[in-house]
Amino acid sequence: MNKAWWKEAVVYQIYPRSFNDSNGDGIGDLQGIISRLDYLENLGVDVIWLSPVYASPNEDNGYDISDYYAIMSDFGTMRDFDELLQKAHEHHLKIVMDLVANHTSDEHQWFIDSRKSKDNPYHDYYIWRDQPNNWGSVFGGSAWQYDENLNQYYLHNFAIKQPDLNWENKAVRDDLYKMMRYWCDKGIDGFRMDVISMISKDQRYPDAPVPEGAVYGDPTPYTVDGPRIHEFLQEMNREVLSRYDLFTVGETPGLSVERALKYVQEDRHELEMVFTFDHVSLDGGDYGKWSQKRTDLVELKKAIMKWVKGCENGGWNSLYLDNHDQPRAVSRFGDDGEYREMSAKCLALTLHLMRGTPYVYQGEELGMTNYHFTSIEECRDIEEINAYKDLVTDRHIYSDQEMLENISSKGRDNARTPMQWDDSQNAGFTTGTPWINVNPNYKTINAAAQVNEPNSIYNFYKQLIALRHAHDIIVYGEMDLLYEDAHDLFAYTRSYNDEKITVLANWSDHEVTYDLTPEGDLLITNDEDVTPHTLKPYQAVAYYKK
Ligand code: NOJ
Repeated sequence: MNKAWWKEAVVYQIYPRSFNDSNGDGIGDLQGIISRLDYLENLGVDVIWLSPVYASPNEDNGYDISDYYAIMSDFGTMRDFDELLQKAHEHHLKIVMDLVANHTSDEHQWFIDSRKSKDNPYHDYYIWRDQPNNWGSVFGGSAWQYDENLNQYYLHNFAIKQPDLNWENKAVRDDLYKMMRYWCDKGIDGFRMDVISMISKDQRYPDAPVPEGAVYGDPTPYTVDGPRIHEFLQEMNREVLSRYDLFTVGETPGLSVERALKYVQEDRHELEMVFTFDHVSLDGGDYGKWSQKRTDLVELKKAIMKWVKGCENGGWNSLYLDNHDQPRAVSRFGDDGEYREMSAKCLALTLHLMRGTPYVYQGEELGMTNYHFTSIEECRDIEEINAYKDLVTDRHIYSDQEMLENISSKGRDNARTPMQWDDSQNAGFTTGTPWINVNPNYKTINAAAQVNEPNSIYNFYKQLIALRHAHDIIVYGEMDLLYEDAHDLFAYTRSYNDEKITVLANWSDHEVTYDLTPEGDLLITNDEDVTPHTLKPYQAVAYYKK
C-alpha cells in the first residue's frame, strides 16, 4: 500500500452558485469564495472541489459548459479565478476542478458547428443518428433530440441542452486533453470527473430493456463502462494526468466494485479514486429515487463495506454522505429535528474514521438540513422539474403534494439552498434576492453561531479532520465491521500495525446496548457522558489503543 497525499486529504466541496455572493446579484461567485477561505482553512480541510465554474447557460447549473476556457459571468472573470487559485494556495488549500467531458452545452461552439451540416468538421464531435433508439435520458424523456436542419437525432444522456461528446473521435479527445492541460498549467491540483464512466458508448446503440414503471429503455448497459473506457482513460493519463501531480476522482455511477477497481488500481495508470453510488441508492421506490423510503442501516453498512473491502488491496475509495446531487445527510440518514446536532455529529464520526478519502459538502459541517418545498415554483433543479412534469402532470402517478414531499426528501435542490453564514437576512449569503430560497432555519443553523462555539457541529468536524491528519491508522488502517446485522448500531474497527480504533455509533433515536468492551482510551465522542456498553440516541464513541 503506497502512501499518497490525496489519500491523507479531506476534501470540501463548494457548489459556487450557493456558497457566497459578493456582489448582491443573488448568485454565489468566486470573490465570495475568496472571502471565505479563512473559514475553510480554519476547518482544516486540504482540498476544495469546485463544482463547475466555466461559462454555461445554466441548464444544469454549470454541468452544461459552453466554453471550457472561460469563467461563468455570474461567477466573475478569469482574473477572479487566478486570484482564487493563488489565495487558496496561500491558505494551504488545493483546488480540484470539475471536469465535465461526457457532454457540453448545446451552446458550445463545437455543437453549434456540429449541427450546421453533416460535412462540417465538427459534426462528428457529437453522436448523431438518422433514427433514435429507445434510450431514456437521466433527466426524463428520450435520450435523442431531433434536429430539423440535419434531419438527424443527437444523443443527450442528460438534458436536451447537454449533447454527449463523441469520444470515438480522436480530435474530440485531443481537444479535451489540450483544455485539461490549460488548467493544469495554471496550477490547479486535480479534477473531479463528471460521469466519467459514461464516455465510451457501445457503438451498436441497441434498444435497451424498459424497467418497470419507466417509459424508455435504460441505456446503462450500453453507456456505462463501455468497450473503450480504459483505453480512453489511459490515454488521458498519458497525455495529461501523468505530467502533473494531480488529485483525480472519477464520478462512476453504475459500476460494480470489481469494475471500478480497474479505474483506480495503481499499476493501471488511470484515476486515483472513484465516487460510488451503492450507498446512496438504497432509498428509491417504484419511480426511481422519488419515494419516502428511508435507507436501511444494515443495507447501508453492507454497501459501504463492499467498497471499503474491495479497495483494500490496491485501489482507493471516496467517502461521502452528501453532495450537490444528494439530499442533506442529516435529514436523510439521521434526524433533522430533536436530535439534529447529535445525529449530524454521529454521521460525521462514523464517516470520518472510515478508510478512504472523506468529502464534506458545504453546510454539512453545520448540520444544514433539507428544505421543505411547498410548491414546484420553488424548485430550480431540471431533474426535479422534469420528474414533476412526468410523474404529476403527465402520468398522474403522484399528487402535487406527494411529489413535493418526495422532492423535499430526495431532490437535489435540498443541497443547493444557500450556505447559511449567519442570522442576518438571507443567511448572510447575499444582499440581493437569492436564486433559490434560503432554508428558514438559518436563524439557528448558521456558521457564525458555530465557529466559536467549542461544542458545535463545525468544531466537531474540525476535530475529526485534525484526528485524521494526526493518525495514519485513520487513513491506512484496515476496516472491519462489528454487529453487521444491527439495525441501529454502526460499529467497526480499524487496525494498523499494533494500533486499533473501535467505533460504536448509534444511528437511532433510542438507547442501544452492546456487549463488547473496546480496547484503549476514548478518542472522540459527541457526548462526553459515556456509559460502558450503552449508547444514548445518536451517541457515537471511538476508542484508540496503541
Ligand atoms: C453528475 C453531476 O454531479 C450532476 O450534477 C449533473 O447533473 C450530471 N452529472 C450531468 O452532468
